[in-house]
Amino acid sequence: MEANYKFIPCLIIIFVQLIIIPCVVGGKVPAIIVFGDSSVDAGNNNQISTVLKSNFEPYGRDFYGKMPTGRFCNGRIPPDFISEAFGLRPFVPAYLDPMFSITDFAGGVCFASAGTGYDNATSQVLSVIPLWKEIENYKEYQKKLEAYVGSKKAKYIIQEALYLVSLGTNDFLENYYSIQSKRASQFTIEQYQGFLIELAENFIKQIYQLGARKISFTGLPPMGCLPLERATNIIRGHGDVCNEKYNDCALRFNVMLNGLVDKLNRELPGMKMVFSNPYELILQIIRNPSSFGFEVAGVACCGTGLFEMSYLCDKLNPLTCTDANKYVFWDSFHLSQKTNLIIANFLMKNVLNQFL
Ligand SMILES: *[C@@H]1O[C@H](CO)[C@@H](O)[C@H](O)[C@H]1NC(C)=O
Repeated sequence: MEANYKFIPCLIIIFVQLIIIPCVVGGKVPAIIVFGDSSVDAGNNNQISTVLKSNFEPYGRDFYGKMPTGRFCNGRIPPDFISEAFGLRPFVPAYLDPMFSITDFAGGVCFASAGTGYDNATSQVLSVIPLWKEIENYKEYQKKLEAYVGSKKAKYIIQEALYLVSLGTNDFLENYYSIQSKRASQFTIEQYQGFLIELAENFIKQIYQLGARKISFTGLPPMGCLPLERATNIIRGHGDVCNEKYNDCALRFNVMLNGLVDKLNRELPGMKMVFSNPYELILQIIRNPSSFGFEVAGVACCGTGLFEMSYLCDKLNPLTCTDANKYVFWDSFHLSQKTNLIIANFLMKNVLNQFL
């Protein structure tokens, strides 16, 4: 009798696999198209004059060929893993990267720029690509795509592609809450959030008008827990804890973003927008790193782990960790590859699976 009981589950498992595999192969997303900031920038900042770059070691040391690409990470970032999960290339190339051309971009392209925000004033802080310019580049891409695959196929790709939109952190940390910012004297934080939501709505409507339909809108992370903000807290004498004001700001903004997603799905015919919110997951990882296989969450791998990013995170720093997989954060502002993978898997399983 016992042997029979063991036999039954095996049959069920084989049956489930037979059903699942054809669904994955027949995926309907022909390309991943990315807009946003350093959370998703694959190297566009390499090609512009800004100090906010990461195309040097130790960035990229766990990427293919140990190559620094301009991703603010030791390896891949979420769009790369999401692209792979859709059966596309295992990374999404940057639009301005001269190593790639429209033959590559037809299956996925990234317009993001580290340091940018919804607010034009945010992109000016570090002279990076403003969001309106990301749209201009996207329009140019559409023309190139049409010339390459023909107008019918181009229209199909534009309409069926999955758009990943991830930005907003810089509007608060680099702009509103910085000492030099004019915004804090013009707006209360609630007013500024409302202003950003209007800009976000305007942005989504523009790409919708240009053909985008499947859009994943990404929520803000618990930005008060970034190592840089924790280090600033120590200096202010608040101890090594997350900055609750910044976390509350992110939480409230995420509620507003979620509301915007619902609104645009109601208002715009054919719109399939989803809210991809990694806030709670990232907070869980930070609070309980060992249950996700990490050893360190309070400081980053690079350098002292408190301040270093971009040019301050350089290969000569002897303090940089040897195994970034043990760290939740790669530099003082950005997650490690392993954390990015956990987030991408979570979003694929819970939100983006409807596009498979
Ligand atoms: C941002 O700058 C662009 C280009 O100058 C302009 O078209 C747009 O209206 C600006 N946005 C806001 C909200 O001022």
